[in-house]
Amino acid sequence: FFGHSFLCTLVTLSGEVLYIPQNALKFVDQTPSEVIVHSGQACTLSCSHSISSYNTILWYYQHEHGQGMHIIGYTFHSTHNLENADDKKYKLKGDAKSSVNLTISELTFKESAVYFCAASSHTYFGNGTKITVLERDVKEPEVEILKPSGIETRCKKTITLVCVAEKFYPDHVSITWTLGDKEIKENVATDPYATQDKTTKLFSMTSRLKVSKKEFKPKNKYRCTVNFYNGTHDISDNTDEINGIEGISLDIN
Ligand SMILES: *[C@@H]1O[C@H](CO)[C@@H](O)[C@H](O)[C@H]1NC(C)=O
Ligand SMILES: *[C@@H]1O[C@H](CO)[C@@H](O)[C@H](O)[C@H]1NC(C)=O
Ligand SMILES: *[C@@H]1O[C@H](CO)[C@@H](O)[C@H](O)[C@H]1NC(C)=O
Repeated sequence: FFGHSFLCTLVTLSGEVLYIPQNALKFVDQTPSEVIVHSGQACTLSCSHSISSYNTILWYYQHEHGQGMHIIGYTFHSTHNLENADDKKYKLKGDAKSSVNLTISELTFKESAVYFCAASSHTYFGNGTKITVLERDVKEPEVEILKPSGIETRCKKTITLVCVAEKFYPDHVSITWTLGDKEIKENVATDPYATQDKTTKLFSMTSRLKVSKKEFKPKNKYRCTVNFYNGTHDISDNTDEINGIEGISLDIN
């Protein structure tokens, strides 16, 4: 269910700046969306499309958000071309008219990245596969909603709830807010990516929710859920919640 955070990112490809159109994604099916492995392991990514006139599938990786895409190689019909021809690291298999698999062997820490396939010439991208080669043990996030700020500011009509997810590894996470059992999508600002402590390798990430003081009533329960993929399971029981405060709506001048 993560995948989506890799969508529509701005990518640079040999200096070019590209926006991946949202509607382009439905043509190319890339699986899996996430992979967590130990160093030395291999993994296989699949890319398929159903556009009969297309006969080329390309593969790229992107190390960090906003950084450039690097080409790995491409398949034209059934002919495979690796950027570095004698590279034993990568193996391509399949027919680019329908589907091609990329196998990456003996993964190293440095190869943790998001891998993308594209059909035709970088026109239609898959959703991306985030691969993490583990550098430490997996650890679920600790979640806390900080004491709301802006309560004391009389003239302000809103307060801000800040949800902090920390001490987790790796960074296969997404943060969602709910009011009761309804997901809140508006007035939410979540960090685009997690930041890492160089020493412990642990990540942290925050998300902010603006709530009008009028709505911040004691009967309303706001919950922050940090969805975490640990390599085999999607875990969503790392949460914190906070109720509105009595009388806060009277605070508005
Ligand atoms: C890719 O993302 C789109 C849009 O969010 C989604 O509908 C689709 O199911 C995703 N495909 C895969 C293979 O995850
Ligand atoms: C690609 O990988 C998938 C999943 O591992 C497998 O089902 C499929 O047969 C493979 N295709 C080719 C062309 O090797
Ligand atoms: C992932 O979560 C499952 C379910 O909670 C657990 O059984 C498994 O040991 C976890 N894996 C890791 C690597 O922590």
